[in-house]
Amino acid sequence: MKQRRVFPYGIDGPPQLAALLAGAGLTALVAVAALLVEAPSAALLGSTVVTAVLAGCAAGYAHTTLRGKFVVWRELAEGLALRGDEYVLDLGCGSGAVVLLVGRRLTTGRAVGVDLWRLRDQWRSDPGALRENALAEGLRERVELLTADMTALPFADARFDIVVTSMAVHNLRPRGRRRAALAEAVRVLRPGGRLVMVDIWVRGRTATLAELGMRSVERRNLGPRMWWCGPFVRTALVTAVKP
Ligand SMILES: C[S@@+](CC[C@H](N)C(=O)[O-])C[C@H]1O[C@@H](n2cnc3c(N)ncnc32)[C@H](O)[C@@H]1O
Repeated sequence: MKQRRVFPYGIDGPPQLAALLAGAGLTALVAVAALLVEAPSAALLGSTVVTAVLAGCAAGYAHTTLRGKFVVWRELAEGLALRGDEYVLDLGCGSGAVVLLVGRRLTTGRAVGVDLWRLRDQWRSDPGALRENALAEGLRERVELLTADMTALPFADARFDIVVTSMAVHNLRPRGRRRAALAEAVRVLRPGGRLVMVDIWVRGRTATLAELGMRSVERRNLGPRMWWCGPFVRTALVTAVKP
């Protein structure tokens, strides 16, 4: 079913996509110049290969941000097998793709999205637009938005059944802040609660979650549907359960 949405999610990072396209355009020009001046074939081959790689990365980025991410999260939300009464927290909800997706699956529960709405992390990270989209979808009672730092959450311990987070924790620097966000996610989960994290550059996160006492910590790559720059920037799924 097509959802009513007032504000489109759009492209997560137009500057990143523009940089890839500009790079591909520049190297294509170099390749054409190499052809015209009959430069050594290595120069022509090199610039053609780099053009193809950058163009491929740009196409992959566009696909991931406009479609792949949503398809993956629909499958993950399905896999959560929600009863409908859960309290679900989305860390760094941004333009709201995940918090709304979860909210639609709740009947009496709540999907709570927290964010600091940093436009440099996501072009359309805007609480006003997200609130309007939630209202347009009839999710006023199911979706709640809060301006809060995921490294210092304003919630009591064991408040949530599930914590989800999509492409947000990698934005935290230095590494200690990423650990703080994971520690907060663990703290606000109830015993038996689940963490579902989708992100890039997740190296070390499974070890951190194990150190924080989480069980069944697993990680898997999400494949080309969530490649942000070809296989050079892949997205992984990390899941864990609080004992
Ligand atoms: C790349 S966006 C991802 C948004 C959304 N989860 C999605 O997948 O479309 C990352 C989000 O994390 C938010 N963010 C960055 N640092 C944060 C922090 N310390 N606490 C809460 N949100 C944060 C940014 O404002 C941004 O909206």
